[in-house]
Amino acid sequence: MQFTYYGHSCFSVEVNGKKLLFDPFITHNELAKSIDIDRIEADFILVSHGHADHIADCEAIAKRTGATVITNWEIHEWLSNKGLEHIHPMNTGGTREFSFGTVKCVVAQHSSSLPDGSYGGNPMGFVIKSTEGNFYYAGDTALTMDMQLVPRFAPLNFAIFPIGDNFTMGYEDAIRAAHMVSCQQVIGVHYDTFGYIKIDHGKATEAFTKNGLTLHLPAIGSTINI
Ligand code: NI
Ligand code: MN
Repeated sequence: MQFTYYGHSCFSVEVNGKKLLFDPFITHNELAKSIDIDRIEADFILVSHGHADHIADCEAIAKRTGATVITNWEIHEWLSNKGLEHIHPMNTGGTREFSFGTVKCVVAQHSSSLPDGSYGGNPMGFVIKSTEGNFYYAGDTALTMDMQLVPRFAPLNFAIFPIGDNFTMGYEDAIRAAHMVSCQQVIGVHYDTFGYIKIDHGKATEAFTKNGLTLHLPAIGSTINI
């Protein structure tokens, strides 16, 4: 599968010819100045929770591309009120088949208010299962025992974990998470964007290697095959 990184927790994965964009936050990210949101293609946009650093560019990209937004009920309501027409509401624990494969919404231990203070429902992670492979995006989350359930839903080709600490788990807990979900290939997100979440890349990748795992930290704008 092809993974393209747009900075912070925004990335796209191409699955069975469909472009899945996750947690669009680009225009307010100082590190992602090289990314032009008007050139991002998307067939689906998956939003893990309501915080601005995961949803800020959702409306603009969804309106331009006509992509279907997959998110929880409360964010679905909020985006509907902004005039978005293609939204598929889900909630934690739910599984649904789409044209590219299956989405299962899983527990994330975090909070989820929307940028205007509206109630954002529960934060979620996503397990994507497809004929091309499976992956897990944890969203913003603490390390949680619920992660042990993930490999029962799907054997993973790779996992996408927040590693910036402070607001989410840091890389040491991400290593524990990788063991819990039985996945060796991890892509790190949610780091370096703000002062609170700056990390030492060398220390993080070394810690993964010592634990028999691989941490990928793709450059913003780059695409990796995984
Ligand atoms: Ni958040
Ligand atoms: Mn966040």
